[in-house]
Amino acid sequence: MTNTDCKYMGLSLKSPVIVGSCGLTNSIEKMQKMEEYGAGAIVLKSIFEEQITNEVLQSVENTHFDVSYHDASDYIKGYTQMASYEKYTNLIRNAKKELSIPVIASINCSSDGDWVTYAKRIEDAGADALELNIFFLPTDFNRNGADNEELYFKIIEGVKSAINIPIALKTGYYFSGLARMLQSLSYTGISGLVLFNRFFAPDIDIEKMKIKAAPLITEGDGEGFYNSLRWIALMYNHVNCNLSATSGISTGNDVIKQLLVGADTVQIASILYSKGIESIKKITDEILAWMNKHNYSSINEFKGKMSFNNIENPEAYLRIQFMKYFSGIE
Ligand SMILES: Cc1cc2nc3c(=O)[nH]c(=O)nc-3n(C[C@H](O)[C@H](O)[C@H](O)COP(=O)(O)O)c2cc1C
Repeated sequence: MTNTDCKYMGLSLKSPVIVGSCGLTNSIEKMQKMEEYGAGAIVLKSIFEEQITNEVLQSVENTHFDVSYHDASDYIKGYTQMASYEKYTNLIRNAKKELSIPVIASINCSSDGDWVTYAKRIEDAGADALELNIFFLPTDFNRNGADNEELYFKIIEGVKSAINIPIALKTGYYFSGLARMLQSLSYTGISGLVLFNRFFAPDIDIEKMKIKAAPLITEGDGEGFYNSLRWIALMYNHVNCNLSATSGISTGNDVIKQLLVGADTVQIASILYSKGIESIKKITDEILAWMNKHNYSSINEFKGKMSFNNIENPEAYLRIQFMKYFSGIE
């Protein structure tokens, strides 16, 4: 009997298709539909580091208390931190109550600040795992590559010391030694690497002469999809944790490609906005149809089959493919 069962971060999933962190995973009703249509797990909408720090600062500034009066301001700080986290931990609790698939919480962070200790509350609320989205663009001219890399290890170390549930790291690719960095990160005790984070991209409104956000919902985003595909293919069997692919995955064939190069799971978001939550079922049916056609009864039978693991020098291989391809184009 063909099935799509798989393991991710020690969790048993019925499908490798995970709903990635996005606005839709903020609603229990929508998450129930995701489960119904066959999602393997759900990553909740991220709570942002700034949601703690900014809200706290704002509420202190907005009170009539003299903020130099420490007891009062400390009380307000403590209270607003609780309120913000309570909203999020309630979402986790409710999701755990209403769903039977794993619920992965998500924190979007860019520093190794105080917020780290709050990961414990997420664990206490019952999250099955925590995804850390380290949203950090190396834009500071005063920091070198080593400084930037160190931050990742510090954040992971802080969170790891606070909780016992599995941790995944959703990261970008702005490292000069990406393969080595991903490998080193995979040996910090994390259980999954999610490749790759999507950063805010600026676009320009040339009439209003204003900076605006580039479209966030990018169904079938070719560049993002192939970037993940390339790096999953390269990292497969070179990391000490699971791999999850994200970006531009919108069909069953896309999922199969990512699994073939070695992804344990995939994460989807944009397609659910453009084609509805029911597209999870279509994607799952396409995966099953392909498996049946190729006589695979389980994902393990084909996962990683097309990775770059057996290519002795992937760099030379990719360069030769590039030369072959471009030399044929007049
Ligand atoms: C509307 C929207 C909101 C998102 N919010 C988050 C978020 O809060 N945290 C996060 O880690 N990723 C967030 N993402 C990124 C997605 O989880 C996913 O990694 C990314 O969109 C690539 O997948 P896709 O091409 O299927 O959309 C968001 C994506 C969208 C479209």
